[in-house]
Amino acid sequence: MHAVVDAESLLAFLAGLDGVYDAPPPLGDPVDLLAHGLQCAAVLRNDRPDDLGLQLAGLVHDIGHAVGDDPDHARVGADVVRPVLGPRVADLVALHVPAKRYLASTESDYELSEASRLSLLRQGSVMTSEEQEKFLAHPAAADAVTLRRADEAAKIVGHQVPGLDVWAPHLLTYASGV
Ligand SMILES: [Fe+2]
Repeated sequence: MHAVVDAESLLAFLAGLDGVYDAPPPLGDPVDLLAHGLQCAAVLRNDRPDDLGLQLAGLVHDIGHAVGDDPDHARVGADVVRPVLGPRVADLVALHVPAKRYLASTESDYELSEASRLSLLRQGSVMTSEEQEKFLAHPAAADAVTLRRADEAAKIVGHQVPGLDVWAPHLLTYASGV
């Protein structure tokens, strides 16, 4: 695996996630980490075409699964992308797990994949009302919820979406403005 020090090395790291899975089944997603990030970014590009930062957060949100063996993949991923993509993208990456816990706490019909349901238990399960209030107070909370909905929709085996070559120039441009 490449060390991530700039936009080019981040892109190389993402390319290396082809065929890398977050966890063995049934604990993991059915698509590899590259396909999952690309599907998530594609959903967000459709939902929020003017928000490149949110789209890129979708692309990189699970990168922490491929860095060491720290179980807190959201925080690890945020630390990796912060120097390259800046604080907002890092916050969105960090908040995608709290956003999942928030949705599971507040929407009785919030549907989770089997892997997500199992990992939710390890991530602290549902939020108390105090935790919900604290989450909502974060300025990136609403966008993190949007990211999390895209995350759950980005696990379709064989689904064809734009590849890393399409995202590369956008990521480079965004990183140059951070
Ligand atoms: Fe994910």
